[in-house]
Amino acid sequence: DRIESLAAEVADAERVVALTGAGVSTASGIPSFRGEGGIWEQFDQRDFHYRRFDADPAGFWRDRIDLRETFYGDGEIEPNAAHEALADLEGMGYLDAAVTQNVDGLHGVAGSETVIELHGTNREAECVECGRRIPAETAFERAEDGELPPRCEACGGVLKPAVVLFGESMPDEPTIRAHELAGQSDLFLAIGSSLQVQPAAGLPARAQRSGATLAIVNLEETPVSDRAEYDLREDVTAALPALVEAVE
Ligand code: OAD
Ligand code: ZN
Repeated sequence: DRIESLAAEVADAERVVALTGAGVSTASGIPSFRGEGGIWEQFDQRDFHYRRFDADPAGFWRDRIDLRETFYGDGEIEPNAAHEALADLEGMGYLDAAVTQNVDGLHGVAGSETVIELHGTNREAECVECGRRIPAETAFERAEDGELPPRCEACGGVLKPAVVLFGESMPDEPTIRAHELAGQSDLFLAIGSSLQVQPAAGLPARAQRSGATLAIVNLEETPVSDRAEYDLREDVTAALPALVEAVE
């Protein structure tokens, strides 16, 4: 079947790179952005805009506290079978890197070592003046205690979650690294992403131009599905463990 055949490609390829999106984390209880039950059905995109943060950092942090409750509920979020499978593939020597649009940090928690976070991380907050970072947990605690907005202890600058907001440019280093990895891959796996947001959306084509085979694992069709060698419309928490099983 298709998984068996993809597993053979994984085993044969010299460089395998995965790109992941919100779809790998839905099984951990984090809603995706687009589609039914998505974040854009519950939240206003404008609240994720840098302008909103800049105009009213205190209000922005108040919204983030609500958002965090929606996302993380009452406990720690945990990696799921899809994150575990990617960490396993890397551990087995079959996966070179995971490039992710997710800011939840779950690839790292699952044990993936080479993770390129294109959109930053929710696990830290960053000072807009001096760039110093602290754990997001600490910033949230202080915001919840009424320090709105929470400020940098080194310079007094306003703290911002270390994620890319709308209206902000992507951090250079991960973007460059992701393009390099895509260009060097001979098998590129696009997993759980709608492939609608740049720069991630351009990576599958970048990989194919350099001769890579493209495999997509996603419940829905994407803009590059019909040019992919593998177009698996499957749940990532089923398909990726099956892939690991088949490659062993
Ligand atoms: P999207 O929400 O756009 O797409 C997630 C995709 O995953 C959808 O196509 C779903 O069908 C699919 N999906 C959901 N659960 C799945 C499952 N269990 N198995 C397989 N597929 C599943 O998320 P991204 O493509 O990651 O950027 O969105 C990219 C960016 O859009 C985000 O990083 C965010 C947003 O603007 C920033 O915030 C900067
Ligand atoms: Zn500072």
